[in-house]
Amino acid sequence: MRLHSERTSSLSYGSSSAALLLVRSGLRWRRWLGLFPVLILALLERPAAAQDFRAGTVAERYALLCANCHGRNLEGSGTGPSLLKDTWLHGGDDEGIARSIRTGFPEKGMPVWGTAIPEKEIRAMVIYLRETRAKVLRDQTKVSTPPAVLTAKSQLHDFKLETWVDGVVEPWSLAFLSPTQAIMTEKRGFLYLIENGKLAPRPISGLPMIYVNGQAGLMDVVPHPDYATNGWIYLSYSEQLTKVDGTPAAFTRIIRGKLKDHVLVEQQTIFQAKLGQYIKADWHFGSRIAFDGQGHVFFSIGERGQNQHAQDLTLPGGKIHRLHDDGRIPTDNPFVSDPTAVPSIWSYGHRNPQGLAFSPSTGELFSSEHGPRGGDELNLVRRGLNYGWPVITYGMNYDGTTMTELTAKEGLEQPIAYWVPSLATCGINFYTGDLFPKWKNQLFLASLAAEQFLRIEIDGGKVVSQEVLFKDLGRIRHVITGPDGALYVLLPKRIVRLTPAS
Ligand code: HEC
Repeated sequence: MRLHSERTSSLSYGSSSAALLLVRSGLRWRRWLGLFPVLILALLERPAAAQDFRAGTVAERYALLCANCHGRNLEGSGTGPSLLKDTWLHGGDDEGIARSIRTGFPEKGMPVWGTAIPEKEIRAMVIYLRETRAKVLRDQTKVSTPPAVLTAKSQLHDFKLETWVDGVVEPWSLAFLSPTQAIMTEKRGFLYLIENGKLAPRPISGLPMIYVNGQAGLMDVVPHPDYATNGWIYLSYSEQLTKVDGTPAAFTRIIRGKLKDHVLVEQQTIFQAKLGQYIKADWHFGSRIAFDGQGHVFFSIGERGQNQHAQDLTLPGGKIHRLHDDGRIPTDNPFVSDPTAVPSIWSYGHRNPQGLAFSPSTGELFSSEHGPRGGDELNLVRRGLNYGWPVITYGMNYDGTTMTELTAKEGLEQPIAYWVPSLATCGINFYTGDLFPKWKNQLFLASLAAEQFLRIEIDGGKVVSQEVLFKDLGRIRHVITGPDGALYVLLPKRIVRLTPAS
């Protein structure tokens, strides 16, 4: 019997039921060897249809179930309509499209999918249709070389867009230190001064060791609101350390320092995670910094690709944090009385927030957040609240598999806006200048993948309108208002300036 089980385990290529059969039977293994091909055949003969809807990605499901009638790229065929048209025949909002898929149009030849495809897969299919539509339509309209200067009409103001500084490499953030002097981060780890629109010939030296790889690098730069008197400049960056077991791992660190003779001096740590909390991954670092004007600094940190960390108050990832501007923990932070919680946490359940800004008119804090595929969010961030990731989301996994069917749940905050398909929402800021009076106090949002620059009007904590001001000039990383009232927007290799067209 002993010999038996040893033999059988060496024969059972992952088919535990076959192994079980072998063990139970009193047959000799040599006879079973002869039967083995039969077993394998029996396994292969299982009907495929039952698996098709469950296994695989949404793209594969589309190719399998829909492309015949609606075309590989939604262009339609003799049997099904194009899904690229401006107007939908049966309702073009998310629910309308989901309904079309669920109920089908049997009288016109489209099957009823609601009985075959689970509801969360229908939701994933809606995202897939929207993404593919956006991609096909964008490829049709894309211009090859973006113009250096352009003028454009928009709902409230006509504007001129022109290059302010070029020859920069992946600029991440920008801030003005005076009416004539600005400071800029490049993701590759460089901090530059810009004087009167001229990039300094060499970067500022004395920066800490910055880990640059994938999404890791030098991120935000924001001067203290009292910079003119105290000189403090705040930076966020990815830091790599070696864990006790010898593996390298990285996390977001926040420091401040002062400029002296082109060197960053008097550096102080504002936030640093514990070594055990550093993670071996090059994505989801966040990180933006914002001041409330009342002595506090807020900053965002992504969940570092560890979904569940966003819900775990003992860990700093997937959170928005709040500290005194010198790094001390405010005693009125929401989780200071919980000895296991990270005391700087202000809100949690975030995925990768890369935009953070206070409204100048209401004092409310807003964050933009990279969701999964089809789930980018704009959130109104309030003390101690849970923004739901990964328990609820409007998106699906990047590989096109679904992650949850929940988009809302009791006790979890809803975003005030979300985008399907994802725009890859990045920096946000409110316009505080005077050049565009009708844009005053409205929110502007940069997006990477969609290459769109959005104006967002918020009223009473709700988004009341959105407008794309320009697109297709490259990935947009950030936006700020300059002291001259122009909007400064960070594109891949240049910084552009928006001023009134007239
Ligand atoms: C056998 C052909 C066929 C297949 C397969 C099929 N459809 Fe359709 N589809 C149609 C027809 C026909 C219509 C209805 C057009 C009309 O009302 O005139 C339609 C309508 C739709 C609409 C509504 C379009 C609008 O303008 O409002 C959506 C959305 C849609 N299909 C999605 C899908 C998806 C997703 C799949 C795969 C899961 C799929 N279809 C599979 C034939 C098909």
